[in-house]
Amino acid sequence: MKTTSAEQGALVFQDQSGLAPRQPEIWAPMLVTREAIEAEARRLAELPAPRSGRRSAVIVHPSSRTADSFTPATSVSIQVLLPGEKTLPFKSNANLLEICIRGGGKVTVDGSFEPRLHDVWTVPSMRGHMYENTGDEPWVRLTYSNAPLLKLLGVLYEEEGVEVSNAQRPEDGLTDAQRRKYASDNAPDVQLTEAGARLRGYEFLTDIPVVPNPALHWPWEKVWPYLSQVPGDDSDERRRIWLLYHPATERRNGTTGTYFATIGGSPAGTPAYTGKHGHRHTSASINYHISGGTGYSIVDGVRIDWKAGDLLLSAPSWSEHAHYHGDDGWRVLTVQDHPLHIAMGSLLWQEKFDGPILALGSEEGQKGYTSPRTQGT
Ligand SMILES: [Fe+2]
Repeated sequence: MKTTSAEQGALVFQDQSGLAPRQPEIWAPMLVTREAIEAEARRLAELPAPRSGRRSAVIVHPSSRTADSFTPATSVSIQVLLPGEKTLPFKSNANLLEICIRGGGKVTVDGSFEPRLHDVWTVPSMRGHMYENTGDEPWVRLTYSNAPLLKLLGVLYEEEGVEVSNAQRPEDGLTDAQRRKYASDNAPDVQLTEAGARLRGYEFLTDIPVVPNPALHWPWEKVWPYLSQVPGDDSDERRRIWLLYHPATERRNGTTGTYFATIGGSPAGTPAYTGKHGHRHTSASINYHISGGTGYSIVDGVRIDWKAGDLLLSAPSWSEHAHYHGDDGWRVLTVQDHPLHIAMGSLLWQEKFDGPILALGSEEGQKGYTSPRTQGT
């Protein structure tokens, strides 16, 4: 590939004539053991409390382009608060998905809730929020954030301090008549061609319909009864995998605008998957092993052994992966940047290696499965 800049001053053109078709760049899987997570949480707990109150460490993948991410788009951080500590109010245009892995406390974000062990919750973009440890042991949580993607785009925005609030916006100086007339529901909207090309006024760009996006909380004790409880139990009442669905994500079927979270797994005594092949997708998948025993994953031919309490980049984008649990079963929180890809039209999915590569959300989807590699009967 040639780069030419002669006679163009500072302009640079990269010659891509005849460029061969490109393929996804597949990262290596990465295991973070329970022991490593616990040791880092202990180290954070022993630090002097920072002014913000946020004792926090990100887990860095060696391929990270932003030096702070676990997948190209996602950071996973270990957050610690000691009993009695609280954080300064904070807000960001990143969206967060969190799981409590030790202790508990209070999250204040448009009201409040009190997550306990293995509860999952969301913190939406640009919503002032804070945390307080109301218990008597360290509160440890894992936070998944799309901040690294926003950094790559050069658009990560954050505020911190007591002045952060979700109060009413300042006056804009417009009359009510102006506000009503120049809004998307009154703007021109013209069909230009028979095939469907349209012209729309500027108001459509700035007056976007609002979909309510409150912080939502999935208490573990409420999720648990819906999980498969005995070997072979995979009915519509108790499934082996459930999506924690936030209605704000609509057809993108996510938990936040970027991520879906699922709670999956099988009870002790369930036979493990016996197939040799896995599936693959462009969404990157991170497994946090909530409970159960040991098992292993095969990711692009590499075996990775895991146990309860481990965090695993279990399916780097477009890697073939399959998971094999042991006799004690497994329960796992899986987080993928699936809704993000649906929004971009870039979610490719291949359930079987001799099967089609589907662009989910843009063409008819994969039918016939109740969980990865498990066909409905
Ligand atoms: Fe997968």
